[in-house]
Amino acid sequence: METLSLIYFSPTGTTQKIVREIGQKTGLKLISENNITHNQDEFKPAVSGDCLTIIGIPVYGGRVPIEAIEALKKLQSNQSPVVIVVVYGNREYDDALLELKEVAINCGFRIIAGAAFIGEHSFSSKDKPIAKNRPDKQDLIKCRDFAELINKKLNEIRDANTPAELNVPGKYPYKERKQLPATVHPITDNNLCNQCGTCVDICPVNAITIEGTEITNGELCTWCCACVKHCPNEARIFDNPTINAVKKKLFLNCSIRKEPVYFV
Ligand SMILES: Cc1cc2nc3c(=O)[nH]c(=O)nc-3n(C[C@H](O)[C@H](O)[C@H](O)COP(=O)(O)O)c2cc1C
Repeated sequence: METLSLIYFSPTGTTQKIVREIGQKTGLKLISENNITHNQDEFKPAVSGDCLTIIGIPVYGGRVPIEAIEALKKLQSNQSPVVIVVVYGNREYDDALLELKEVAINCGFRIIAGAAFIGEHSFSSKDKPIAKNRPDKQDLIKCRDFAELINKKLNEIRDANTPAELNVPGKYPYKERKQLPATVHPITDNNLCNQCGTCVDICPVNAITIEGTEITNGELCTWCCACVKHCPNEARIFDNPTINAVKKKLFLNCSIRKEPVYFV
């Protein structure tokens, strides 16, 4: 096994950072990197048998984001090895790793390792920070440790050929997906917005358009907060009673630092 392929969905960039770091620390030669956050329709995957794939997704409501599943379903592998990684905002990852495992198995992959890492929560704000600035230095060291375990496992399967099935936490039926109220979504402060279009480009579901002013389609918005975190003028605001109640609850209940876990 000498080559590496990365596939990730990452609206606010923490999953991307973690998957890249793990991949780099394996020392394998990177031959493809697929960011499936945008334009999932255009994702044309090619998986070769002697390549290690690392798939990373953020946890949304204890599950794999639907948009990520739709893109990942296109992958077809002939038992090539895969590492599955979920990144969550210091609450819980619930059934996400188990669900990602199922998605990967259905694509024909052989799961050799899995992990749950922590990234700054998409809803984290200045006044209610949640897992602020994670992944941090300590997390990146854990990426290196995990990569070492992956390399060890790759050597083992080279000798044994068929690895035992990997068990990961999670249960069936998966946690129910909650319907997000369409009236709740980030809005634009027109005093700060200069219509640069960053939010339009960055939105994974094309929920934002500029028609004189920015308009957000609440039916499409997934609350991923890419627009809030990437706006160069801090003009995208996610501030209303519903989301503020969620932020407050997360801030109060999820402030004790959690650490990454691996399953190899
Ligand atoms: C709609 C939504 C639901 C989320 N649900 C969870 C969750 O169930 N548990 C958790 O710990 N974090 C949750 N998060 C936080 C993200 O998993 C976390 O911030 C992750 O690092 C974001 O990844 P990204 O930077 O690659 O977009 C959620 C975030 C969003 C936007």
